[in-house]
Amino acid sequence: MRILGIETSCDETAVALVEDGRLVAERLATQIDVHALFGGVVPEIASREHLRVLPRLFDELMADTGLAPADIDRVAVARGPGLLGSLLVGLSFAKGLSLATGAPLIGVNHLMAHLLAPGLEGELRFPALGLLVSGGHTHIYLMRSATDVELMGRTLDDAAGEAFDKVAKLLNIVYPGGRFIDMLASEGEPDTALFPRPYVDNDNLDFSFSGLKTAVANHVAAHPGLVLDEMAGGQGLAGVSGARRQELARVCASFNWSVAQTLKIKVERALKRTDGVRSLIVAGGVAANSAVRRTMAEVAGAAGVELTLPGLSLCTDNAAMIAYAGWLLARAGYGHDLGLEAVPRGRAIPEDWSVCGDKRAGEC
Ligand code: KG4
Ligand code: ZN
Repeated sequence: MRILGIETSCDETAVALVEDGRLVAERLATQIDVHALFGGVVPEIASREHLRVLPRLFDELMADTGLAPADIDRVAVARGPGLLGSLLVGLSFAKGLSLATGAPLIGVNHLMAHLLAPGLEGELRFPALGLLVSGGHTHIYLMRSATDVELMGRTLDDAAGEAFDKVAKLLNIVYPGGRFIDMLASEGEPDTALFPRPYVDNDNLDFSFSGLKTAVANHVAAHPGLVLDEMAGGQGLAGVSGARRQELARVCASFNWSVAQTLKIKVERALKRTDGVRSLIVAGGVAANSAVRRTMAEVAGAAGVELTLPGLSLCTDNAAMIAYAGWLLARAGYGHDLGLEAVPRGRAIPEDWSVCGDKRAGEC
């Protein structure tokens, strides 16, 4: 089964083709540079960029693979959570394609797609504990299978990625600054007494990163020399040197440590509360973080479960994960009709699929 994936939930526009569970080709255009000027994603600009870029990416994907739209068996699209205007661009494109070609539509939960993405690189072992750490979410799930998933814990305020990006902003590092914090952290040693591990003195599985962000803000206010004179990221950071760079590296390493240890405490707690878990899946943009990857390897090793971490390009938003999750759903016989709705951030994604309830039901 050949399945097209479409991703437009935030600031990446992407299309990918998965055939029988394997990635065939993908095209991705990031809007990071457009939004960096504003220090965060501007929803209206994001929607317009998706609209401008998506048809071209689709044409390029068809040209890359030598396929025609009629060769697509299913159209999978990220239906949320995300920015509503952005999601609607992807959904409208997917519905048009479905209508034109007759290929049934499948709405994919963007969060589940993140967690299932490592299935493109190796076997997923269920039941699994899923830690989703992205720009918008920090969730712990019990995943009994690819389609039977229960939320165990969630962030009460900032998501882990949001905390990274806000700390970067405090230091005058460009948006999204998580990877630059991580890069600087790799040059320093953490001071484990510098920042707290927030919201761990309780017995729940929820997160709250706002206190950690405030602790960093207070530290930066007391040490204004840490703030870059000009906003920088990537190449621009090369100009930061000497004692200031060393101190920045120490602060970033300490922040990395606090986030990774907080995730560790809650994941270990979750593992103790579940029976028979075979793997720990860590996914989302912050799963690219070196301290998070290292720490989760320790957690999985100590608990005797397999660690499943996607490669770096599968951590951040992409369409391969949408196509793959769509393939898993299609294989299980699930699909949507053209009434499929986009779900904005903050609302639960309904499991409103129909089982082979489409016009090609015989092929499900
Ligand atoms: O999953 P994702 O691409 O988008 C959402 O669905 O939110 O995650 C983006 C987030 C951003 O907050 C970004 O700063 C963060 O992932 N991120 C990182 C790293 N790479 C990306 N945070 C910490 N360390 C990294 N290496
Ligand atoms: Zn995402």
